[in-house]
Amino acid sequence: MIDNIHKWLLLRLALLWLVLSIVIGGMVNYLGHLRMDNHIVEMAKTETASYITAIDSYLKSPSEQALSELNSKIGDQIIRDNLIAVEFYDADSNMITDAVKLHAKEIEAKLPEHGSEFVDKDGIVCNKLMIENDTYMRVFVPLLNSAGTKIGYLEGIYHAPGDIVKEIKRQTLWALILVVLLILATSMALYPLIIRLNRKLVNYTKSLALTNIGMLKVLGSAISKRDSDTNIHNYRVTLYSVNIGESLGLSQSAMQGLIKGAFLHDLGKIATPDAILHKRGKLSEEEFKIMKTHVQHGVDIVSGYDWLKDAQVVVACHHEKFDGSGYPLGLRGEGIPINARIFAVADVFDALTSKRPYKEPFSFEVSVGILRESIGSHFDPDITRLFLEHAVALHAEICNDDEPLLHVKLEMSIGKYFQ
Ligand SMILES: [Fe+2]
Repeated sequence: MIDNIHKWLLLRLALLWLVLSIVIGGMVNYLGHLRMDNHIVEMAKTETASYITAIDSYLKSPSEQALSELNSKIGDQIIRDNLIAVEFYDADSNMITDAVKLHAKEIEAKLPEHGSEFVDKDGIVCNKLMIENDTYMRVFVPLLNSAGTKIGYLEGIYHAPGDIVKEIKRQTLWALILVVLLILATSMALYPLIIRLNRKLVNYTKSLALTNIGMLKVLGSAISKRDSDTNIHNYRVTLYSVNIGESLGLSQSAMQGLIKGAFLHDLGKIATPDAILHKRGKLSEEEFKIMKTHVQHGVDIVSGYDWLKDAQVVVACHHEKFDGSGYPLGLRGEGIPINARIFAVADVFDALTSKRPYKEPFSFEVSVGILRESIGSHFDPDITRLFLEHAVALHAEICNDDEPLLHVKLEMSIGKYFQ
């Protein structure tokens, strides 16, 4: 169980780490690229815009000489810059002049054609391009005259510096590694915390289970004191019932209900008057009618507490008979809950083989004979036959044990099904 909790928790924390690493790592990676793009855009804008001053004098008085000076200026400038090409256009998109960095013709040839989406824009427009794993920016800068009218535009092709791209990628990678490690450390820190909380919860649950079992014993003991002064009948009928339940392969929860129900089956007798409960002779019709109410009193008591609710079917139906002649509801056959059918066999067998104030114990053979005669009338045939298969061993093991020994055996059954 403990191993399972460790595996369960480790698996989920690993899953949590993986999911958070993918989600947060993805965000860090995205923001890193966004930061790099923004940085490159700003550099490309600044560098491209710096060519505006070179064309100023040409725009003021265009001439062959001014154009020659412009070509000379931009030719010198482009050598020092990260721009690989710069082109000036007039308002009709006719090229005025251009400059291309040495060895950049090949790259320029690979650039995709652009549309006129920038023409109407008043500000600088940037388009990112990836060519052979290198980052380029195509920048469009509007050219304005002194009146603020657009008279052309400048197009620059900016090659993002490899060292800057590399540095931003390196920073992004480290941020990514840091985030993944932080999430891993957080997950690992959660592990002992959750294990500790779980251990506390298990201890509380065990403590609560012990409290409930203690209450079960107290209630059983209370009715025993009221009825016969010992717990021995409750112990034996519970142990017989457990044996039958195990032979039938009942689930753990059904076994829990069976144990609780068997132990508390006559709890309602707390409300039965002494004169009737302890009467040695035969009860009158009226007295028997009152005696029968112990079933409902028992149901009233156990139904008031959640932990005892699964005991209710045994308490409510332990006097029902297979042929429908029992009480209080006259249920028949499989209409009687299986735990109650099991208990009925155990209860009557113990009553037959035990000494009571009004009778000596019947021998094992006589008791078994009475059970056989009642198959199909009082008892479920299958359950009774199953019980009778083990009856010799059970009788030898349980019937003659004293109360402390039976208590130990009952404790073992409780330990098996409640913890
Ligand atoms: Fe009863």
